[in-house]
Formats: sequence, structure tokens, C-alpha cells
Amino acid sequence: MSTMDAAGPAAQDQFWVWWAMLTVSLIVAAVVFVLWLFTFRRREQPQRTAREERRIMLRWVLGGGVALPVASIIALLVFAAPTGRGMLPLPLAEGEAERIEVVGHQWWWEVRYPGANGERDVVTANRLVMPAGEPVDFRLTSADVIHAFWIPRLGGKRDMVPGRHSTVRLEAESSGVFGAQCAEYCGAQHTHMLLHVEALERDEFEAWLAERRSPHQLRDGFDEAQEAFGEHCAACHTVDGFPEELIVDDMSHDIEGPDLSDIGSRPTLGAGVLPMEEGAIAYWLQHHQTLKPGNRMPPHNHIDTETLEDIGAWLETLEP
Ligand code: CUA
Repeated sequence: MSTMDAAGPAAQDQFWVWWAMLTVSLIVAAVVFVLWLFTFRRREQPQRTAREERRIMLRWVLGGGVALPVASIIALLVFAAPTGRGMLPLPLAEGEAERIEVVGHQWWWEVRYPGANGERDVVTANRLVMPAGEPVDFRLTSADVIHAFWIPRLGGKRDMVPGRHSTVRLEAESSGVFGAQCAEYCGAQHTHMLLHVEALERDEFEAWLAERRSPHQLRDGFDEAQEAFGEHCAACHTVDGFPEELIVDDMSHDIEGPDLSDIGSRPTLGAGVLPMEEGAIAYWLQHHQTLKPGNRMPPHNHIDTETLEDIGAWLETLEP
């Protein structure tokens, strides 16, 4: 997640602005330090009149106190302005850049790939898959409080404000995996709001998306788990193709939980709290309030361990 290791043009520009600011700051600091040392050497000049003395002082104040800061700030501004402009994407024609919608939630990421021409949206969570080698427009918003979208190696750090949409255009120069993190304090579990970003070659990206676009087939042999899921989980969590007659919507809470349609294929659980591995979901279901205290999923103390293990085992099978 190092900003010093830029992997895309936006991050590269920010990297140079960072160096320019550091360099100018160091030069200004050095000049001020030398002048300060110089004051120790300065002796009384008895031959100067008070008026001459005042004029010299005024020159220092105007030069060092006004001209130097104005010149250095203008220099930085001229250097940084194009980068700032680059952060504001100009409207591209339809289809010119892939568009991915990202919604911040306390404390997870909803990632949506809008379907064109009546195709259905692909929705996933805490994992962002994007095409490499081309600009991608990320359309950002929040479902609750202000979050910020930041992929340090690609750029960004754009606030996600509830009720508003903003767009940031980023590009990954080549395929790879990048870390991303919410960059605006958004409550107790702000730390545990990680996003796993994968840049894939165009054809791999298309395949990834197509797999999720096609209708889901639920695996057979998990009837009890599905029934329990319908009773305890389905009011907040969606699974594509889940039989509607099993959904018990008790209306006791109206929290939107992550879409779980492809949860078995995701790299982490709880927005980066646990790596996805066998048994991890069942473990998460039992201990999530210890692993990520205060997260919006209610504790499951009223559900027996065996049922939670069943649900976990079934959820692990959910892959496109
Ligand atoms: Cu979301 Cu910090």
C-alpha cells in the first residue's frame, strides 16, 4: 500500500507532487535556518541611523516574509495544478472507460458493475476487480457516513459522501493485486475497512464479470443450511438464486449487509479481518463481534454452533 511505489498514472503524478513539495519545503527551511544563524553574527552598526536601520528591516520583512513564501507557493501551485485537474475526470463518451460503482458502508465496501442493455448488475463486496492498462471511472458514494476511497499505489483518496456521487479516474498500468483502505475516519471499525483490488488483463476481466453475470446455480445438499440462512440472514444479505419462499423477513432490522452471491470466491472476510479459508466463515459467524467489535451484524448467540457451521459450509460453496 505504499504511495512511493506508484503503479498507475494518477499515483505517479501524486508521487511527483509529493517530492516537489518536500524539495521546496527543504529549500525554504534551509534558507530560513541559514538566515537565523546569520542573526547571531550580526553586530550593532553604530554608523547607521535609525531610519537606515528601519529600511533594512523592511527589506528583510518584504523579501523573506512576503516574496519568498509567495514565490515558493506559486511554484508549487503551478507544478501541482495539473495533477489536481487530473483527479477531476472530464466526461468521456459512453463506453470509453469502464465504470465501476463503489459504495462505502460501515464498515465494508459494496462494489457494483452496472449491466448495460438490460444485463443484470454484478454486485460483490470488499473486493474490486478492474481491467488493467486502461482508465477506469470509479463512481463513489456512501450509504451512511463519510468514507474515503484510496488505493495508495493507484491514487485516489476521494471522499465518499452520503447522498452525493463523485467520480475518480484511475488506471493500473499492469495487472496485479493492490491494497486499498478507507481513508476517512468513519467509526469504531474504520481500521477494518480494507478493500482487495485486483487488476486483470481485459479478457480475464471480461471472463470474471461474465461468470458473475450469468444466473447462479445453488449447490444441492444444503437444505438445512439454506433454511437457516433464510431464517437468520436473508433479511439483510442477498444471494443470487436463493429461493424466495425460504426468506423470513422479520423486519427487526433494516441494515443492508454485503451481497453474498460469490462470497466463497473472495479473498478475505469481514473487509480484511480474516483470510478466506475452509471453516473461516463458520468461525466468523461465531466470533465476528470479537473479531470486529461493533460491526452491524448482530451477534449470533441465539443460534447453535452446528447451525452456524452448516451455514458457513454452504456459504463457502457460493462461487460463480
Ligand atoms: Cu470507512 Cu473509514
